[in-house]
Amino acid sequence: MKVFLIGFMGCGKSTKAKQLSNYLNYPLFDIDNLIEKEAQMPISDYFKLHGESAFRILEKHVLQNHPFPEHAIIATGGGLPCFFNNMKWMNAQGITVYLEMHPKQLVSRLGNRHKRPLIKDMDDVQLLSFIETKLKERETFYKQATLSLNAFDLDLAQLASTLNLTSLPK
Ligand code: S3P
Repeated sequence: MKVFLIGFMGCGKSTKAKQLSNYLNYPLFDIDNLIEKEAQMPISDYFKLHGESAFRILEKHVLQNHPFPEHAIIATGGGLPCFFNNMKWMNAQGITVYLEMHPKQLVSRLGNRHKRPLIKDMDDVQLLSFIETKLKERETFYKQATLSLNAFDLDLAQLASTLNLTSLPK
């Protein structure tokens, strides 16, 4: 089974994906890392050079063309589910899990912003207002997930059993 973790920047997708991958012994993929490999540059440089529209096209290409194995844990970028048919595509390929987090908690977790081109120049007040607005738009997509969970409550054993996922042998 492929499990896609989705949610806003800073909600902990990469960390939770790593933990879930260890717990189930499923291989781990991070779409942002795959994009950086494909583009041969950091995402922030790609945004600067080519702009967001080009980034979204590359993001879709990587998501929908990477040869993921049958069982995989896949961390996605915060905007990925909200462009093209990506959300529908992920739901057809496996399970999507939305890690929910309150805007104020996201602000406090997004202290180091320089690697995130959409928010790199914002102070905390601007960031909170950006998150509140964006989250409203994005939740239309995030809420199409198979499962929505409070990111702080994520219990790996419980998640695996809810989703009927069994560990692969080590
Ligand atoms: C983005 C989130 C980033 C990265 C890019 C755009 C977004 O990923 O894909 O900077 O639009 O929310 P993370 O959610 O892993 O920070």
